[in-house]
Amino acid sequence: MALILGLESSCDETAAALVTSDGTIRAHKLARQEEAHRPYGGVVPEIAARAHVEMLGPLIEAALEEAGVTLADVDAIAATAGPGLIGGVMVGLVTGKALALAAGKPLVAVNHLEGHALSPRLGDRSLEFPYLLLLVSGGHCQLLLVEGVSRYRRLATTIDDAAGEAFDKTAKLLGLGFPGGPAVEKAAERGNPKAVPLPRPLVGSGEPHFSFAGLKSAVARAVNDYSAEDLAASFQQAVVDCLVDRTRLALAVTRPTALVVAGGVAANTAVRTALEALAAEHALPFVAPPLWLCTDNAAMIAWAGAERFAQGLTDPLDVPARPRWPL
Ligand code: KG4
Ligand code: ZN
Repeated sequence: MALILGLESSCDETAAALVTSDGTIRAHKLARQEEAHRPYGGVVPEIAARAHVEMLGPLIEAALEEAGVTLADVDAIAATAGPGLIGGVMVGLVTGKALALAAGKPLVAVNHLEGHALSPRLGDRSLEFPYLLLLVSGGHCQLLLVEGVSRYRRLATTIDDAAGEAFDKTAKLLGLGFPGGPAVEKAAERGNPKAVPLPRPLVGSGEPHFSFAGLKSAVARAVNDYSAEDLAASFQQAVVDCLVDRTRLALAVTRPTALVVAGGVAANTAVRTALEALAAEHALPFVAPPLWLCTDNAAMIAWAGAERFAQGLTDPLDVPARPRWPL
C-alpha cells in the first residue's frame, strides 16, 4: 500500500496531508487565512503567497508527526500545480519538488480541479465511475462527468463568475462581510425568496453553461429597494434555480452512477436540498462529501496523487506551475 504526502496552496488555504492508497487519511493539517484577507473583502494574492511560505513547512512537519512517519516512509509527493493564484501554487509545487529531490521520491503534479473531482471517492470508496460532479466553489463552477482518473468530460462551466464568487460579491453589496456564502445563507433565513424579482441567467435555454454576472448586477440595482434579508433569500433562490436547471440539463445527456456535489457552495443547505431532490427525481444516489473535504484541503490532493501514482502517472521535477489549467 502506497503512502502519499499531499500539498495544497492554490488559494487561501495552506494544507498538508498523508493519505494511503486504500483511502485512509493518516494526517491532515490545514491553516486558513480568512483573518488576513478579511480587511480587504477578498483574497489578496501577495498576502496569500507569503502566508503559504510561512505555514507550509510547519504543517508538513505536523502531518508527518501525527502519522508517526518520516519522509523516508512516503512513496510519492503530490502537490497542486494549478490552476490557482500563481504565487501560492509555486510555493506548494516548489516545496513538493524540493522534498521529492531531497528524499528521492517521485513527484505527482496534481490539477487542483482533479483533486476536487476525485475527492468524493476518498469520502465514499464505493463510488463508481462515471459520476456527475457539480463543482461549485469560489473559483470554480463546473459540471464534470468523471469517467476515470485523467478522464473528465466537462459538460458546463461558467461564462463569467463562479457561484461562490457571486455569493461573495452579493454579500459585499449587502454589507454582510467576508467570506460571503455563509453570511448570505444566514441572512436568507430571515428573508422571503420571492420578494425580489431576479433573473435566472440561461435557465430554460439549451445552452449548458452557467452565468452569474447578470444576477449580481440585478442585486446591485435592487439594493436600495429591499431589505438585505429579502435580497439574500431571493438571490440564494435564484442561484439554486440556476444550479438545478443546469444540472438537470446535464443529467439528460449522461448516464452517471450518482450525482455528486463538491466545493464550498456545497455547504449551503438550500443548494444541497435542491440537488438531493433532483437526484431523487432521476433515481440516482446523491453524494455530498463531508464539508471539510468539499472545500480546499490537502487530503484530496494526496488522494488524487494516490490515484495517479497507482497508474504510474508521475511527473518530472521541471513540471511547471500553471495559473490556468482546464481539466
Ligand atoms: O471550495 P472553497 O473553500 O474554495 C475555493 O473557492 O476553491 O469555496 C469557497 C467558496 C466561497 O465563495 C464561499 O463564499 C462559498 O464557497 N461558500 C458558500 C457557503 N459556504 C462557503 N456559499 C454559499 N453558502 C454557504 N453556506
Ligand atoms: Zn478549490
